[in-house]
Amino acid sequence: MGKAWGFGKHGGPEVQEFFDRPDPVPGRGEVLIRVGVAGVNPLDYLLREGLVPGLDGGRPFPRVLGMEAAGTVLALGEDVDGLGVGDAVFGFALTGGGTYAETTVLSADNTARTPAGLSAAVAATLPVAGTTAVDVLDQLDLPAGATIVVNGVGGGVGLAVARLACARELRVIGTGSAAKREHAEAVGVRFIDYAAGDVVAAARELVPDGADGIVDLVGGTSLRTVARLARNARNVIAVGDASVSDLGGRFVERRLDRENLERSARLALDGVLAPVISAVHSLSDAPAALATVENGHTAGKVVIEVA
Ligand SMILES: NC(=O)c1ccc[n+]([C@@H]2O[C@H](COP(=O)([O-])OP(=O)(O)OC[C@H]3O[C@@H](n4cnc5c(N)ncnc54)[C@H](OP(=O)(O)O)[C@@H]3O)[C@@H](O)[C@H]2O)c1
Repeated sequence: MGKAWGFGKHGGPEVQEFFDRPDPVPGRGEVLIRVGVAGVNPLDYLLREGLVPGLDGGRPFPRVLGMEAAGTVLALGEDVDGLGVGDAVFGFALTGGGTYAETTVLSADNTARTPAGLSAAVAATLPVAGTTAVDVLDQLDLPAGATIVVNGVGGGVGLAVARLACARELRVIGTGSAAKREHAEAVGVRFIDYAAGDVVAAARELVPDGADGIVDLVGGTSLRTVARLARNARNVIAVGDASVSDLGGRFVERRLDRENLERSARLALDGVLAPVISAVHSLSDAPAALATVENGHTAGKVVIEVA
């Protein structure tokens, strides 16, 4: 039996609740873990609101929040290769276990060993933000010296994209609110405060001929505004807003497999994917952790330290 935090029905923060649940039994291709640290993501509250039925449809309530975690393997289901009891691991809870909990099940194919020297807190940020950054930049596939604009650079994915892009010797312009300037400039980003004036005009002062790529983490009107900076519409990649295809751009193609997790862990060990963890909450403080992300202006990553 373990403590978990989730929701009894779809809705706003008022449907959230703590409850006790028996340790989940790992099914075929799953591992049961003791959660060390859970990452907090916008997708968590979108699932609570019932806005992503393809990802949680049909599971009984109450449902546990959270998609990513690092922890220690307690038991293996059938057909699990490459992981053993006692291993430190990190990965995705894709089969409905949730990760804001003392124990949960991860999908073994979407879980990797946490290498020695990598903290559980950093490992817990890699499944969502780390591998998304890898995927976005692989798909853009721009040469050193090219310029990208990262729209929403100060959040979990934005700072990861910026760090990885700088390591690939891309020139990075990033947009965010004034509070994100310091984080972004520390990574090497030329920062534009979107509240201070016309973002497109400010960016054109830096790249008069436009940018080689746009990575959008904001969506909506902001995406449509910033997309005007792209020299080639196909190199507008959105991570959260699929309507980017209406502009001729692409929605990120995600690779959630172990190989991509291992790759992001190596980049983290090398200091390339070094996340800014702006807040560490306890499980009993999970409501505050998710509220921080739900306000839409997170700096870097927020995590919940469970054990
Ligand atoms: N497809 C996938 O697999 C996948 C994976 C990861 C994330 N996502 C999605 O990608 C999006 C970003 O994720 P995230 O984890 O980075 O979220 P996050 O940590 O909440 O960061 C979003 C950032 O955008 C900034 N922002 C808000 N409005 C802005 C504007 N008008 N212009 C520029 N910046 C603005 C926010 O702070 P400030 O306003 O203070 O600058 C915040 O730092 C979410 O929609 C998420 O669901 C999708």
